[in-house]
Amino acid sequence: MTARIGVLTGGGDCPGLNAVIRAVVRRAESYSMGVLGFRNGWRGVLDYAAEPLTQTSTRGILHRGGTMLGTSRTDPVAAPDGVERVREALEVHRLDGLVVIGGEGTLSAARVLSEEHGVPIVGVPKTIDNDLSGTQFTIGFSTALDIATEAVDRLHSTAESHNRVMLLEVMGRHVGWIATYAGIAGGADAILVPEHPFDLDRVCRHLRRRHGTGRTFSIVVIAEGAVPAAGTLDLPEYDLDEFGRPRLGGIAAFLGPLIEERTGFPTRVTILGHVQRGGTPNAFDRVLGSTLGVAATDCAQRGEWGRMVGMRGNAVAAVPLARATGELKTVPAAMYEVAEVFFG
Ligand code: F6P
Repeated sequence: MTARIGVLTGGGDCPGLNAVIRAVVRRAESYSMGVLGFRNGWRGVLDYAAEPLTQTSTRGILHRGGTMLGTSRTDPVAAPDGVERVREALEVHRLDGLVVIGGEGTLSAARVLSEEHGVPIVGVPKTIDNDLSGTQFTIGFSTALDIATEAVDRLHSTAESHNRVMLLEVMGRHVGWIATYAGIAGGADAILVPEHPFDLDRVCRHLRRRHGTGRTFSIVVIAEGAVPAAGTLDLPEYDLDEFGRPRLGGIAAFLGPLIEERTGFPTRVTILGHVQRGGTPNAFDRVLGSTLGVAATDCAQRGEWGRMVGMRGNAVAAVPLARATGELKTVPAAMYEVAEVFFG
C-alpha cells in the first residue's frame, strides 16, 4: 500500500502546475497518503530540499500561475551520483514513489530512472508546447494559446490601421502547436512551423499576391523553432543555454527586415516570449491539471508506476513513460492544411 509520495515540477513552468499539486494533495489526503513537495524540480530531490504538503499549505493556489514548488531543468541522470541520490532521497524521506510533473526533458529522466533503475514514478504532462505524445493536450498549452490568440487579435487592428505586415513569434521549440492553433483562431495569413520548413521567397510572393488583391495588411505567425527549407536561407546561430540547448527566440526579428526588403511592405515584429508561460491558468488548464493530478495520485495509490497520465478524448488514459517520451507529438498535416485554407 502506498503511504507517502513525493511530487515535483520540472522544466519550463506553465499555467496549471499549481492545479496539479493541489489535486495530488487533495486526492492523497483522501487515501490518508502523505505528500512531500520537492523544491525546484529534480534539483530538490538531489539536494533533499523538500517540504510536507497539506490541504492547508496548498490552499488558494488553483488560479495562480507558475509553480509553488519552483522548477529547474536539472537532469538527475546526468548529475554526478544523480541516480544514487534519487534513490537515497526516496529512502531518507520514506517515499513509496514520485509524481513527476514535467515536459519532455523531465519525463525522459523519469523514464530512465523508472525503466533502468526501478524508481517508482508516475508522470504528469505539462508544457505550453503541447509536444508530448500519449496525451491529446498538455497542461499549459490552452492558456498559452489564449494569450497568443489575443496577441494576434491585437496586432490585427494596428496592422490594419497602418497597412503593415505584422510578424508574431510564439513559442514552439520543435513543434508548431501554438502557432498553428493561434494562427487559425486569429485568422493569420501565413504560419511558419518547424514541421513545414519554409521558403521565404514563397512567403513573400504569397504576401505580395495577397496585397495585390487589395488587402493592405497581413499577419504572419511564426513558431520560434521554424526552420527554412534546405538551401534557401541561413539563420544566424543561436547561443546555447546552460543545458546546451539553442536559446531560441528572435527568428521573427531576423525575418522581419528580409520580408520588408523583398515585399516592399512596412513590417513590424512582435516576440511574445515568456508572457505565454506566465499568469493565471485558464479554465481548461485548471480542469486538466486537476483531472491529471487526481489520476496520477490514483495510479500511485494502486502502485501503477512507470506511466504518464494523459487525456485520450474525454477520458484519462495512462501510457508507459517510454511511449510518452519516445517521439514528439507534431501538428498533424491535416491540421496544418486547415490553417492553409485561410492563407491569402
Ligand atoms: O519547453 C517550453 C518552452 O516554452 C519552449 O517553447 C521554449 O523554447 C523554452 O521553453 C524556453 O525556456 P527557458 O527560457 O525557460 O529556458
